[in-house]
Amino acid sequence: MAKKFPQGFIFGGATAAYQVEGATCEDGRGPCVWDEYMNRPGSRFQADPASDFYHQYKNDLQLCHDFGVNGIRISISWTRILPDGEGKVNPAGIDYYNSLIDECIRQGVEPFVTLHHFDTPLPYFQDGHWLNRKLIDKFVDYAKICFEAFGDRVKKWATFNEPWSIAQNGYIAGNFPPNETFQIAKAIQIEHNLMVAHARALSLYKSMNLPGEIGIVHTLEGKVPISDKPEDRHARDLDDAISNRFMLDACFLGHYSDETMALIGEILEKNHGTLVTEPSDFEDFSAAAGQIDFLGMNYYSSHFLQAWDGESKVFNNSTGEKGTSVFALKGIGARVSNPDVPTTDWDWPIYPQGMHDQLRRIARDYPNYKKIYISENGMGYKDTFENGRIDDTPRIDYVSRHLEAILQAIDEGVNVQGYYIWSLMDVLSWSNGYNKRYGLFYVDYKDQKRYPKKSAYWYRLMAQRGELVP
Ligand code: BG6
Repeated sequence: MAKKFPQGFIFGGATAAYQVEGATCEDGRGPCVWDEYMNRPGSRFQADPASDFYHQYKNDLQLCHDFGVNGIRISISWTRILPDGEGKVNPAGIDYYNSLIDECIRQGVEPFVTLHHFDTPLPYFQDGHWLNRKLIDKFVDYAKICFEAFGDRVKKWATFNEPWSIAQNGYIAGNFPPNETFQIAKAIQIEHNLMVAHARALSLYKSMNLPGEIGIVHTLEGKVPISDKPEDRHARDLDDAISNRFMLDACFLGHYSDETMALIGEILEKNHGTLVTEPSDFEDFSAAAGQIDFLGMNYYSSHFLQAWDGESKVFNNSTGEKGTSVFALKGIGARVSNPDVPTTDWDWPIYPQGMHDQLRRIARDYPNYKKIYISENGMGYKDTFENGRIDDTPRIDYVSRHLEAILQAIDEGVNVQGYYIWSLMDVLSWSNGYNKRYGLFYVDYKDQKRYPKKSAYWYRLMAQRGELVP
């Protein structure tokens, strides 16, 4: 198998506004849902100063330049641009992102900008969050402001980051606000509403004739039956439908296929729920599916599924104490451990085969896709800092095995044009705080100094040679 990456392949690094910027109260920024959540009494960690990217972006982009990182995923904080979510634009917010984007370009680090990475304005969260369809129009208005302000220079746009995480973590697993559990019908409704917002913003962008491309970032979770039993295979199909297939259909087919709807219908029936749609939603889906330029695919892990008709139960391992996770949904399936597959300390199975299989599945089931960027992949690890050195060999091994899986898929004809490691520098993890590190660059949170990890040197070599290095 070829070890070379295609010509022009992007070796990027990924960030998200809330996880890196800090400065949550500076320069007129308004509150988002996470500010309220992190400031609740008893909260385990604070969002300020995160990785202080708001002030240190020049230094961080210099590091990108020096380490061969030629693309960066950033997201825009909605409430820096519109402190109330709507209404008056905050000039300081526009200035900040203008300077950031200009600096990216100056350093030869192409910006890939996500409009929404979990940080919904607080007033909308309190008014029903993404269950309230009013938010769809608000999002499109906000998107328009961003396209007008930055669309001359930003050539890669994503509407949303991981709609599934918003739905699953907020309404099923309960580890994102509003911390509800097992509200499966609500989660499906939120997925649908987010797909409508995505479709409308995408069509708006296309109507503006700007010089760039637009897509969406989905987290694709591999789903593997734990045995060949038909009931375990069915559990796999159900979990795949709610996590992956439902929204991929909307984005790339422009409608939900009959098979997908049969699976989603079964889940809804078992959970006594219904899905509310409007006829125009499907016109919006169809228009956007005909124009989408790329899929941003986040891939970290896969789940091994077993049929489950017991009560739903969940325990989120948010401390890195191995072997503590539990996730079983009545009528869908239980995610169980596979003794042949190692896991991270946070119980995420390390399964590069799933990356390959998901890439192949896109090419097979959605042949109108144009290209894929791996918009996130990386390993959460308890890095240790010794004498100025960070030896993160397990992370190098993880990333290298996933890159191998990507190269295999490319070899088999899947069009993958870039890889953005999660994360560029250590960042705030939404539900795990600061001890779950992912960065190429270590952040000493005492003084915010950056230190390249062993993986940063390895990544640079790979970017320089354009091939996978041992
Ligand atoms: C993705 C998100 O789900 O995974 C990131 O887009 C997130 O924002 C990353 O940080 C890793 O998740 P976690 O929970 O380990 O921080």
